[in-house]
Formats: sequence, structure tokens, C-alpha cells
Amino acid sequence: MSHVKRTILLDCDPGLDDAVALMLAAGDPRIELAAVTTVAGNQTLEKVTDNARRLAGLLGVSAPVASGCARPLVRTPAWSTVHGDSGLGGVTLTADPVPLDPRHAVDLIIDTVLDREPGSVTLVPVGPLSNIAMAIRKEPRIIERVREVVLMGGAYHAGNRTAVAEFNVLTDPEAAAIVFGEPWPVTMVGLDLTWQALATPDVLARIAAVDTAAARIVVDMLGSYAAAYRAHRFLDAPPVHDPCAVAYVIDPTLITTRRAPIAVELTGTATLGMTVADFRDPDPQCSTQVAVDLDVGRFWELVIAALARLP
Ligand code: BDR
Ligand code: CA
Repeated sequence: MSHVKRTILLDCDPGLDDAVALMLAAGDPRIELAAVTTVAGNQTLEKVTDNARRLAGLLGVSAPVASGCARPLVRTPAWSTVHGDSGLGGVTLTADPVPLDPRHAVDLIIDTVLDREPGSVTLVPVGPLSNIAMAIRKEPRIIERVREVVLMGGAYHAGNRTAVAEFNVLTDPEAAAIVFGEPWPVTMVGLDLTWQALATPDVLARIAAVDTAAARIVVDMLGSYAAAYRAHRFLDAPPVHDPCAVAYVIDPTLITTRRAPIAVELTGTATLGMTVADFRDPDPQCSTQVAVDLDVGRFWELVIAALARLP
């Protein structure tokens, strides 16, 4: 079967679900992974970069990996509680790390977009938006050169870090405001969608049955992730957020979206970091949309098929 490949740059902070997103991107034949960039978020920049490099080594990813912003543009960082001290829960990766690209992630983002055909690169940020905002400010031409931005972050209903704010957006809300404020096509794959992608015992059993090195690591990672969610959020099956954004790029029919302008709350005391989606009077020209409904069965089939192709 031949496929038209979609070229993506994955900007991430691995992160247990970030790792699954990277595996989906590396294992699906419809994705050309042009670059991987890291940003401080779930853990320090040093830790998430080491995790990304080891994951790339494990998966045989040949795309350049570069590290980026070590902190949000304005705010003080606060690491995630569910990804543990290493950023990958209780999982230790023994694979050798791939070499680190000497460029700053912001420059690798700019180079990747400008070096390729206009309209060919999709940015897939699944961590705080610090690198993407800095790249826009350093090289505004990327705004009209990218195909689209498909990001995991935000929520138009309930948050996770606070009642209304999601972790990635709340960690660097000024960066998120910059990214949502530019006139490029942005799809917000937020919590409203990702809370449908639950790693249930049935899903874990199907992943375990794949029995590749990558699948075994995912079983360990999602086990660790589920334990953290039980401890911190009292949920039995954790939402696996980040691969949902990659899945949308691979097959947009998996996710239903609604067009809406999105504003990021920067001054609220109880609502800082809230992504306010305005569903009144839908404007067909609006460049932002939010993900609403996931075809859960086909989503997990996609992830499991990708894991089966990996080493
Ligand atoms: C997001 O926050 C991080 O902890 C996850 O990796 C995901 O990107 C979910 O709110
Ligand atoms: Ca993430």
C-alpha cells in the first residue's frame, strides 16, 4: 500500500505519553518524522532531552533531535506530577542516546520549515509551547510556510492542572497565547478529546500481545502512568494525550473538530491558562479549531499497528 506521507516536526517533553506519540510517529508509514525538538515541561530540559534521545535510539529514529527552551517565557516552571522524577515514570531506557543536534530547537524548527517546500511541514507540539512561540518571534516567515499546527494542549471544558487549565498551556501561557494568536491553521487537541483515549486494561492487554521491544516498554510506561493517575487523580484508566495529535495528522477522519477562535487567559486569578473557545457564530474563515470526538477503536488500532512495526 503506498501512502502520501505527511512531514511532521514533533516538539515534546517526554513524558510517558510523549514517548507513545514518538512511537506512533516513528511506526506509521504515513509519517515522515523530519525532526524532534525538546522543551522543559514534564521534567527539566536535561531529563526530557535525554529521554527523547534514548527513545530515538531505541526506535532507530534518524531525524535530528535538538533541545530547546529550559523554562517558560515568563513563568516559573513546575514539573508534572504524573511522569515521575525521570520524566518516564519507573521505566529505565537502556538504549544508547542518538547524538544531540548542535542547533537550538528554535533554530531546528525554523530550518526544518524553511528548508522544505512551503506548506509541507506540520508542527506537532505536545509540550509547553515555549519553543514554537520563540521560533515565531525569531522567524515570522514560518507562520505562512507551515502546513498547519496540530498541538496537544488546552481544554474548552475542564482542565487537569487546575479546574480550567491544562498542563501544557498553563506551564507557558504566554507562549500559548502567541501560538493561538497567529493566523496559521491550529488544531487544539485538548483534554476534551484526549480524555477519550484511555489506556484501559483491554488496551494494555492488546499492546502486551504485540510483544516487540517498543510494545513492552509501552506496557511498562502505561503501567507506571496508570499508577500515577490512580494516586493523583483517582482514575483507573489514564488518558494517553499526546499520540492523539499525531493520530490526527495521520488520519483526520479519526477526530471530529469544531471551528472556534481560542483565547488564552493570561490575567485571571482562578482561570490562568484557560483556553477559551468561542463557539458562538462559527466563522468558516476562522483558522483555529478544537478536537471534539475521537474514534477510540480506530485510534488504538493505529497505535498498536505502529508498535508492531517498530523494533
Ligand atoms: C499534557 O501534559 C503532559 O503531562 C502530557 O505529556 C501531555 O502533553 C496533558 O495535559
Ligand atoms: Ca507532553
